[in-house]
Amino acid sequence: MNNIDSITHLRGESIYLDDIPLINGTLFAAAFPSPIAHGIIKQLDLSEAENMPGVARIFTCKDIPSENQVGGIIPDEPLLADHHVHFCGMPIALVVAETRDAARAAVKKIKVVIEPLPVITNPREAQENNELIVPPRTFRLGDTANTWPQCAHVFEGSADTNGQEHLYIETQGAYALPQENNALKIYSSTQAPTAVQRAVSKVTGLSMHQLDIEVIRLGGGFGGKEDQANTWAALCALAALLLKKPVKYSLHRMEDMAMTGKRHPYSSDFKIGLDNNYKILAYEARFFQNAGAAADLSPAVLERTLFHCTNAYFIPNVTATAYSCRTHLPPNTAFRGFGGPQGMFVIEAAIAKAAEALGIPASVIQEKNLITTGDEFPYGQKAESEATACWQNAMQLYDIGSIRRQQAAFNNSHKLLKKGLALMPICFGISFTKTLMNQARAQVHVYTDGSVAVSTGAVEMGQGVNTKMLQVAAQVFSIPASQVKIQSTSTYRIANTSPSAASATADLNGKAVLLACTEILNRLKAVAAEEWNTPPTAIELKDEWLWVNGEKTGWDWKRLVMTAFVKRISLSEHAHYATPEIHFDASKEKGHPFAYHVYGTAIVETTVDCLRGIYTTDAVKVVHDFGSSMNTAIDLGQIEGGIVQGIGWMTLEEVIYDKEGRLRSNALSTYKVPDVYSVPKEIAIHYLATEKDNLAIFRSKAVGEPPLMYGIGVYFALRNAMRAFNPNAVMPFDAPMTPEKVLMALYAATATAAIKPQAGVNII
Ligand code: MTE
Ligand code: HPA
Ligand code: MOS
Repeated sequence: MNNIDSITHLRGESIYLDDIPLINGTLFAAAFPSPIAHGIIKQLDLSEAENMPGVARIFTCKDIPSENQVGGIIPDEPLLADHHVHFCGMPIALVVAETRDAARAAVKKIKVVIEPLPVITNPREAQENNELIVPPRTFRLGDTANTWPQCAHVFEGSADTNGQEHLYIETQGAYALPQENNALKIYSSTQAPTAVQRAVSKVTGLSMHQLDIEVIRLGGGFGGKEDQANTWAALCALAALLLKKPVKYSLHRMEDMAMTGKRHPYSSDFKIGLDNNYKILAYEARFFQNAGAAADLSPAVLERTLFHCTNAYFIPNVTATAYSCRTHLPPNTAFRGFGGPQGMFVIEAAIAKAAEALGIPASVIQEKNLITTGDEFPYGQKAESEATACWQNAMQLYDIGSIRRQQAAFNNSHKLLKKGLALMPICFGISFTKTLMNQARAQVHVYTDGSVAVSTGAVEMGQGVNTKMLQVAAQVFSIPASQVKIQSTSTYRIANTSPSAASATADLNGKAVLLACTEILNRLKAVAAEEWNTPPTAIELKDEWLWVNGEKTGWDWKRLVMTAFVKRISLSEHAHYATPEIHFDASKEKGHPFAYHVYGTAIVETTVDCLRGIYTTDAVKVVHDFGSSMNTAIDLGQIEGGIVQGIGWMTLEEVIYDKEGRLRSNALSTYKVPDVYSVPKEIAIHYLATEKDNLAIFRSKAVGEPPLMYGIGVYFALRNAMRAFNPNAVMPFDAPMTPEKVLMALYAATATAAIKPQAGVNII
């Protein structure tokens, strides 16, 4: 089935925040951001700004009626700065004016005097100063300390990954409308309507039941709107409540880039030990997460790094410790993979280091150590593994032998162009790592004309979840898609939602839809059973018709619905789903946190131009574990998009803060995102269909985040191509592998070492 949004997207008719018709009298907001990363506000002069044409009012933290706080996990993030500023871009004041331009012009007239304090941008330096967001955490399996002496080979090193700008096409924003009796309606571009509702409630002092947060769809979220949509909604709510006027704030791209957090940069150390057969016996890692100035989602992201620190491998002895380090950057946040990719990069780096030193392809080590069913992850869960199936299928299907031969022949016959190959197995756990978040609700109404409306907590952000929700309802009732409508996401219809995140949105909300529809279906079957005087088990609905005892009747779906209504049977249901089986004990760091894992293997081929440092991704050939895909078109889109986003993170995208904590890559002219030339020339996807029972909706495994990690393979394929040109190239594990870094590694080994950026932060 096609994505239900495809036609309105194509025609430009789909409604995003900025398309909502404005109510007469709407005012526009713009935040005044701190120009300094760390300091104490000595003076704030609003007088000139207040006198600018069109300015209605300028708000500061003093105007906040309740708590000046938007921190989700930890209350450490003021909405508007009070005395202290902690990062460049931290909102200090909010101008509200008659037009967007007037608001922005007034922002420029605000004057602030800030006494600067020392700025830390490096997570390792923060850790040394004990600037930690939460105490460090350690995952342990076996005993690494006593295993090192048994290892034939031991390698140590460090590996850094940089941040990543979400670059959702639709920037952050909100539109708050005052309602009677002080209630507020807020349209928000958020993945988490309930998080917005909680934050607004805290700031305004209104109860959650006075706050209707509505989301039609997002022009992308990628994790960036899981927590960080709260600020803009809270600012609009504050102004709307105090001015009793509708207030809208839709961020300019440069405001969005400068003021919001990104993927967490990590700086990490590893130690890996292997036996003579290349079995990994022990692995130790230390992760220094650059959290930025406040917790945001960092503790949860940190946890997922630990959960994924061994990727798709079984390692009997593991000690992994992670530090969430407070720096003076905008608070970093969720981004597709949620800390998993950062952990997976480090184990791949460790394996690459071992392979390079031992003079064997990394794939030899990778293959020998793939996790198999029954093996234990460091957090205690036993694998139901498809890792080997994906790997072996990929080897055979894409004929790895012939790829190797062709690459070798090419490299022999080319001096400046070199090809490289890498394999990238993935394993990603599906469920929110916080067990309590794995619950969802759905409300289904069947109207008397037979049409069906479905509301869930799921937010459509381009990932196609609404189409999947529609498929569930249409399938249960056996009615055409045109009879079902997925309503906008609203806290008035569905309460206490988890964010649309963790790739689990379709599973959680889809299961709730399934429960609600099944309940209504059972009522309808009971009505028919009574009419035909048979047990309900003899009743079936097929393609809009009622079948009794295997025979088609003269009743269609509409007649059945109407009959039930006449008999005063409820045609509505509100269902709740909670993922069974999952649990986790954080005091032991053991449990069964994931409903299931998603596996896959990518074969990645690249070509490097060793004269110019530029490169292409020739092919990404994947065998991916779908379970039983309920929508192959949507899932294909998720895989292709994820791969390209992963390639961007690993090769092109350089988030650059200077030593003062100012974002230098603050526009698309200074921040390179993937374009059509970065897309692999070939993306081949083989659907590994597995019949195994799993907790996915209709056994269609979650697909949103896992494919991003295939992009990590591009990094290692580039390294291998570079080695083919210069076996002595000096290549720290330091993503992204930009063309500049390729050249420096190939030609100026000593220079590369000298300009290696501070861990986790690039200094220009
Ligand atoms: N795909 C599109 N087009 N837009 C997005 O914002 N977000 C990704 C992924 N795919 C995203 C996307 C992220 S970070 C997650 S967690 C999942 O979609 C969320 O949706 P799901 O749970 O329905 O997979
Ligand atoms: N994934 C994504 N988002 C989250 C998670 C998670 O595991 N936990 C809290 N928010
Ligand atoms: Mo996705 S990073 O879980 O929104």
